[in-house]
Amino acid sequence: MAAGVAAAHEHSIDDVVRETGWVFNNQIGDQLSLAQFVATGDAQTEPFMNALGLQSMPVEGQTMLELGSGIGRMTASFTRLFNRVIACDLDAALLERCRETVAQFGRPDRLQTSHIPDGRTIALPDDSVDLVFSYITLQHCHRDDALALASEAVRVVRSGGRIALDFRSWDLQDLVLWPTGKLVRASWRLPRVGPMIAQWRLPARLGWQANRLSPSRVLSGLGDSITDVTILRGPKRRGFGIPGTTDRAFAGMHRSHWWIVGVVR
Ligand SMILES: C[S@@+](CC[C@H](N)C(=O)[O-])C[C@H]1O[C@@H](n2cnc3c(N)ncnc32)[C@H](O)[C@@H]1O
Repeated sequence: MAAGVAAAHEHSIDDVVRETGWVFNNQIGDQLSLAQFVATGDAQTEPFMNALGLQSMPVEGQTMLELGSGIGRMTASFTRLFNRVIACDLDAALLERCRETVAQFGRPDRLQTSHIPDGRTIALPDDSVDLVFSYITLQHCHRDDALALASEAVRVVRSGGRIALDFRSWDLQDLVLWPTGKLVRASWRLPRVGPMIAQWRLPARLGWQANRLSPSRVLSGLGDSITDVTILRGPKRRGFGIPGTTDRAFAGMHRSHWWIVGVVR
């Protein structure tokens, strides 16, 4: 929420990128612009669509939901691909900025935003979209919220549509990251200094590491609601070896991240 507060206070969206852009793509600098920020999203959209096996989807005429859109780094490019894009986020201030980003770099006529105030419920009817896509978001939620959002993703996708959700699982570096992140999150509750710490780059990045989930845990929550499941992982991680799923490696991924891609029954 600190990024949203900062985003709401900055004058221009270029200022937002300079002050809070690092939340999304880890780039910093006084000269950063929204155009550069959106270019990083543009550069990822197509490789991810290909790696996730979504390139064969007839995207024109389809509705996609982006879970955790932030200020629209990838959303702009999605609106150029899909007929309708529903950008969802916990933070209403970021959704406001997302509309500005798409107005400048995408197709605002194709964008709808949907706030997730409780962090776990998507305010859309069952079977209302063709694809739910989520990148670097579900690792930042409370663990139970991440699991609830995965079920919500399946609920809002029509039968035959797909989910493509990115999670993060345990890795050696978590021996340090995990306890430090807990300490940072505790510091955010300190009177007066807490809100300031929440806006500092390094502590914020540590504190945002809110959960680690394995593919088997996520799959057990989804039961038999999805089929044709592929687990995509970084090439430096061994396959998760889950029976009945397809294992694929993608060079563009960090070893602690993994994606679940599946067709909704
Ligand atoms: C690191 S940013 C990623 C934004 C975007 N996906 C991108 O690649 O630029 C994570 C986003 O997830 C949102 N978020 C965190 N927890 C959430 C939740 N429980 N429900 C919805 N959005 C959430 C944050 O507000 C933030 O905008």
